[in-house]
Amino acid sequence: MPEGFLKPALAGFQPYLPGEQPPDGEDWVKLNTNESPLPPSPRVVEAIRQAADDSLRLYPSPTAAPARIAIAKHLGLQPDQVTLGNGGDELIEMCFRAFAGAGDRVAYPTPTYPLLDPLCRIHEVEPSTHPTELPWELPPSLGPDPAALKFIVNPNSPTGAFFARAAIEAVVVASAGVVVIDEAYVDFAPHSALSLLPSHQNLLLLRTFSKSYGLAGMRIGFAIGSRGLISALDSVKDSYNLDRLAIVAAKAAIEDEDHHRRIVSAVIEGRDFLIQELTAMKFDLVPPAANFVFTKPPANADHVASALRERRILVRHYDREPIAGWLRITVGTRQQHERLIVALKEILS
Ligand SMILES: Cc1ncc(COP(=O)(O)O)c(C=O)c1O
Repeated sequence: MPEGFLKPALAGFQPYLPGEQPPDGEDWVKLNTNESPLPPSPRVVEAIRQAADDSLRLYPSPTAAPARIAIAKHLGLQPDQVTLGNGGDELIEMCFRAFAGAGDRVAYPTPTYPLLDPLCRIHEVEPSTHPTELPWELPPSLGPDPAALKFIVNPNSPTGAFFARAAIEAVVVASAGVVVIDEAYVDFAPHSALSLLPSHQNLLLLRTFSKSYGLAGMRIGFAIGSRGLISALDSVKDSYNLDRLAIVAAKAAIEDEDHHRRIVSAVIEGRDFLIQELTAMKFDLVPPAANFVFTKPPANADHVASALRERRILVRHYDREPIAGWLRITVGTRQQHERLIVALKEILS
């Protein structure tokens, strides 16, 4: 849309730019958007097939009830402690709607998920950013910040670093507002902040089916927290934010824990292989706790990313400081890693 039509508060607006999605079926090695290298559970695919029938003429459950109940059961929570979204991204946006009004502060450590900056602009809130000195340590200034809403992505993206539970809890305790821990990548990390939920009414966790369940294409995420926070999110959500196919997919996915475990183990094994190969090629690495590695090549990162793209290999490169020299590479299949390594050796020779 021409900028002239945007509301004045969005003058000069820089939207979030998702990673490149080449057309399906082309021979790309796609390691740029942290999708699962393995497909979803066959039980999910079958559930979607079964649900694709005449009932599609009817609206879905506005509360995504079957999925909510299944997720709550899986996590040992009550259904009113869970709500779902059209991907984790929609839940992040719902947090802005529910917890931060125009002029409020929204705080987060940087660098982190680049969706937060444009959401601050859209909701006319003041971003309160806290630069991270060491990727795996939360900035001490984050806890005392009087923001209405705080986000901590853990493990963080794009760095892949994991913040210790005690550091997370210290921020939650020091905060009067809502603290959201975005756990999109937590299944690949040592542990979640789930055990903190019963003792903190202002803590909300966000999860997604896009990474460790192989369902990025279905757009399903969920939030868990106190009844008060969940009902606040429910009160601002779109009426039917999950479609019928997404609801059955979410239920089937959470109920197939064996398949989920298989994806997680394969990714962790692949990550170890990638770390070993990149270290041997003199890449710097942040110790990764997610399904990607954040790595500094021994050459210009922009050049390396472009040269990989010429070979139909996509990785993520951010052209902004302080991460301009770094690449984020999603853990893929063994075959994809082999193509990546051959290409990197060629580019760096
Ligand atoms: C940190 C972080 N949070 C949330 C998401 C949202 O994922 P989705 O909207 O696919 O559930 C992503 C996706 O890449 C992410 O990196």
